[in-house]
Amino acid sequence: MTLTLERLTSTLAPRPVRYVDTTGSTNDLCLEWVAQGAPSGAVIVAEQQTKGRGRLGRVWFSPPQTALMFTVILRPSVAALARAPMLGALAVHRAIADLGIDGVGIKWPNDVQINGLKVCGILPEAAWDGGDFGGLVIGIGVNVRVDFSESTFKDSATSLETVLGERVDRLALLQSILSAIDELLPQVETDAFFDLWRDNLNMLGKPIMVEGQQFTAQDVERDGALIIRDEAGKTRRMIAGDIALG
Ligand code: BTN
Repeated sequence: MTLTLERLTSTLAPRPVRYVDTTGSTNDLCLEWVAQGAPSGAVIVAEQQTKGRGRLGRVWFSPPQTALMFTVILRPSVAALARAPMLGALAVHRAIADLGIDGVGIKWPNDVQINGLKVCGILPEAAWDGGDFGGLVIGIGVNVRVDFSESTFKDSATSLETVLGERVDRLALLQSILSAIDELLPQVETDAFFDLWRDNLNMLGKPIMVEGQQFTAQDVERDGALIIRDEAGKTRRMIAGDIALG
């Protein structure tokens, strides 16, 4: 069903919600809204993005009506910032598992996958006002009915409806992800929260490729860093970057 401001507002009340049919990036809109004083929990949803941004400077694009694309504003402590990727990934993981889908896992640091195929990308960004922390935005793009069968992503990405074989209501999914964020946010600095993220990672102990070289994904640290081990047993700590499984 089409997302409209009326449906979003009535379902998500009293949360402040904005809806745009087409925009550059919902993250950019939310960074502007943060600077204007938007409260924690405020959300912007778009049907289409012309400059959707992904991690590591990549482009994120989904055809209209095929994805759920939104950004939520949060105002956590600066200490919790390193855990923003974990928060986004765990919330989406929970919402997707609640649809009854098996094989949901998190690929470090915050891709959500189903049986190793990416179904959701997450881009957390902090807003800074000079040296002062102004707020956090978490941009989330979920493939709901994107058809990857003819695309270059056909072996690396999937959509919820492809896996489920039935229609997924994007508004209900959005509500479920936002509820999960509300539940998880108060725990974000706890060991239990970190352990939950760690337990749902799908590549620990497995071979991974980093910059064309094979490593083993050994473990993660409490700030979210990934420890990788090469064939000679030497370890390296990654705080950003990309890994490929297998
Ligand atoms: C990634 O996997 O590289 C992260 C993709 C994040 C995409 C979402 S869609 C909504 C929000 N607005 C953006 O410009 N990006 C995020």
